[in-house]
Amino acid sequence: VGVAVFASGNGSNFEALVHHSRKHAWADEIRLLFCDRPGAGVIGRAERLKIPAIQRSPKEFADKASYERWLLGVLKEHGIDRIVLAGYMRLIGPTLLEAYPDRIINIHPSLLPAFPGKDAILKAYCHPVCVSGVTVHLVDEGMDTGRILAQVPVSIEKGDTLETFEEKMHQAEHRLYPEVVQKWIAGEIGIKEQYS
Ligand code: GRF
Repeated sequence: VGVAVFASGNGSNFEALVHHSRKHAWADEIRLLFCDRPGAGVIGRAERLKIPAIQRSPKEFADKASYERWLLGVLKEHGIDRIVLAGYMRLIGPTLLEAYPDRIINIHPSLLPAFPGKDAILKAYCHPVCVSGVTVHLVDEGMDTGRILAQVPVSIEKGDTLETFEEKMHQAEHRLYPEVVQKWIAGEIGIKEQYS
């Protein structure tokens, strides 16, 4: 299985995925990092980790369909069968969804369907909830709406600041996502089976 990771920002989940893949013998599968925000932090991580990286802004294309058609060509060239979104701040359009049906996975920092979209960590922190968490789900045309494969809770305790809560959330992400992705590309979880 050839895997591409898509990221737009810092890339800590990308790095956690690469480390896990090297420790648990699925390193050959992460073949490409694609970043839609040239110069984002994730690029430096890819260089350090020696993962081939491609960066290109969608603004260079006339529309989303032509951007995704170009991307599809890149993915085919690299033998990519699965796409792992890790902080990719963009909805996936029909071109990629049709080419990769149920072959795109995402991580979101809330217990979906609560707090979809941007700033989910902040939204949970500012609401009167005492538990949020992390969700891994298949990607469909909606915003964080695809089939849920795995969730873990993260509590918001009395003494937590936004920073300490954020730190716990990221730790939970870095633990959960690589394990789920490894099982997903091995075909152990998918459409019907949930991670447990
Ligand atoms: C993570 O919180 C992820 O759940 C969300 O975007 C953030 C990306 O962080 N989709 P990083 O770039 O992996 O550090």
